[in-house]
Amino acid sequence: MATFFNSPIPIPFFYCLLFSTLVFLHFLLLYSLSEYQHYITHPSHSLDYHHNIDDQNHSLNFNNTQISRSYSSRSDGFVSITSKISNGASTNGIASVSPTNYTDNFHVRQRKQNKKSNLKILEEGLARARATIMQATRIRVVNHSTTGEEDFKFVSRGSIYRNPNAFYQSHMEMEKRLKVWTYKEGELPLVHEGPVNNIYSTEGQFIDEMESGESQFSAHHPDQAHVFFLPFSVARLRRFVFKPEPSLPQHHLNLFVTDYIRVISNRYPFWNRSAGADHFMVSCHDWGPNISIGRPELFVNFIRVLCNANTSEGFLPERDVSLPEVKLPFGQLTIPKLGALPSKRTILAFFAGRVHGRIRKVLMKHWKDKDAEVQVYDYLPKSQSYAKKMAQSKFCLCPSGWEVASPRVVESIFAGCVPVIISTSYVLPFSDVLDWSQFSVTISVQNIPMIKDLLKSISISEYVKMHRRLKQVQRHFTINRPSKRFDLIRMVLHSVWLRRLNVGLVS
Ligand SMILES: *[C@@H]1O[C@H](CO)[C@@H](O)[C@H](O)[C@H]1NC(C)=O
Ligand SMILES: *[C@@H]1O[C@H](CO)[C@@H](O)[C@H](O)[C@H]1NC(C)=O
Ligand SMILES: *[C@@H]1O[C@H](CO)[C@@H](O)[C@H](O)[C@H]1NC(C)=O
Ligand SMILES: *[C@@H]1O[C@H](CO)[C@@H](O)[C@H](O)[C@H]1NC(C)=O
Ligand SMILES: *[C@@H]1O[C@H](CO)[C@@H](O)[C@H](O)[C@H]1NC(C)=O
Ligand SMILES: *[C@@H]1O[C@H](CO)[C@@H](O)[C@H](O)[C@H]1NC(C)=O
Ligand SMILES: *[C@@H]1O[C@H](CO)[C@@H](O)[C@H](O)[C@H]1NC(C)=O
Repeated sequence: MATFFNSPIPIPFFYCLLFSTLVFLHFLLLYSLSEYQHYITHPSHSLDYHHNIDDQNHSLNFNNTQISRSYSSRSDGFVSITSKISNGASTNGIASVSPTNYTDNFHVRQRKQNKKSNLKILEEGLARARATIMQATRIRVVNHSTTGEEDFKFVSRGSIYRNPNAFYQSHMEMEKRLKVWTYKEGELPLVHEGPVNNIYSTEGQFIDEMESGESQFSAHHPDQAHVFFLPFSVARLRRFVFKPEPSLPQHHLNLFVTDYIRVISNRYPFWNRSAGADHFMVSCHDWGPNISIGRPELFVNFIRVLCNANTSEGFLPERDVSLPEVKLPFGQLTIPKLGALPSKRTILAFFAGRVHGRIRKVLMKHWKDKDAEVQVYDYLPKSQSYAKKMAQSKFCLCPSGWEVASPRVVESIFAGCVPVIISTSYVLPFSDVLDWSQFSVTISVQNIPMIKDLLKSISISEYVKMHRRLKQVQRHFTINRPSKRFDLIRMVLHSVWLRRLNVGLVS
């Protein structure tokens, strides 16, 4: 099996490199710790940046008709909520693997408990959760006063969900049950921490939340866990391994991850028993998808939570999770909410950003300096404020850049500016539960010349509804530490939870 150290680089050179990298890391680590301490105390504001975005694919529904059908048609205890894993069930080995013995002489104390009964308890809990979720899809009005009347009202007033009842019930079941084991293996700064500010912030914030010891979802022992988190940071690998040593072959990223999986699958039985289907990673870096290059067979079931959710690059909506990209201002957990009323929004459509990628070229060609109502800039003049422009615009154009995800979508949501997704093969965040058509507009690349007509054809009353829905959507893209109900971190966990519900592990 390939390891990080079986590399084409001569071993002494590699260790030399490693050592110098580590010395360097030590200082950067000190720097990053101070950076980290600032993140609660150091306010600064800047929405001015230029980045990218892409298209959507709604094929992954939290479609509960489908849930009940595939669930009730199976009698072997294996459950499928979305199609992919159930179709692959007989071939990917998930349904038939059983726990094996293991010696855990490292971080986890051996328990005298019977492993099979642990797994059985977990699976019985998941089965009850599935049953309750499915019931919620059938019974339209459920009185949820026991779990939070206000929160139930919040969800049930919204048309932003594919199925409000199912979403609500599923979220409550998750809060009640879900336990996540975060592997202890690996060293700082590549593992256990990530960037908590700027465009990759969701990667670091999620890792940090799971490592904080404050998450109600943290399992005390891996035997209690429904899902297993591999807390390495692709952004950190990029910064601390590839940037200092640009000549390092790129497949070292894949080797690092493969090696991490080798370690945990040798030490514990969990990876092997599910072939990785209850294991996940989180990355907002463009290179996130690259971890699977090289040994695709290892990653067939592994859940990748990625900002770079590009279906043309192997992102599978049924297995992977689309992570929102949020450009967190340094020292903050929130981005400004800009609440201008629809009637105060004088610009029809706005975009400012660098001409990255194919789609923005098309956008510039048709709209740069062409129209007072559709304002498209490659560089916003210094005298103008990006945030103010968003607050004055009805629609904010979110075209693809070099990669599919962009913090622009979330910024639009907080600016009360209806996002216009111009992209191909982008799976929008939380699109398994959120109905993006209720609060965003999708325009195909071919229709870029028609942007103005298409947006003008949306009636004022429809626009006002979309604008109002953005307010509700904001809660799902808000970062709280520790996380709170329905916020971004819990929505990410909920997406992972849904994928776990797809898998039944038999003992
Ligand atoms: C849910 O699935 C059913 C059956 O596959 C399909 O007919 C229906 O259109 C789907 N609903 C949504 C909202 O996707
Ligand atoms: C697993 O471990 C138990 C207790 O140590 C032992 O009795 C049993 O034979 C082992 N099973 C396998 C398959 O090795
Ligand atoms: C739900 O519970 C509240 C208070 O417990 C009650 O006032 C209300 O009538 C109930 N709603 C339904 C539909 O049963
Ligand atoms: C990751 O993939 C992208 C695009 O496929 C490529 O440009 C980049 O060099 C890759 N990086 C690594 C480390 O594999
Ligand atoms: C998991 O599978 C790998 C590859 O087959 C094997 O080397 C490893 O020992 C297994 N792990 C455990 C804990 O049995
Ligand atoms: C999505 O992936 C395809 C295939 O690698 C690539 O050609 C395309 O540029 C990507 N889209 C974006 C916006 O990065
Ligand atoms: C959306 O997903 C479906 C099913 O995975 C696929 O057939 C379709 O090509 C995808 N559409 C786009 C635009 O990627």
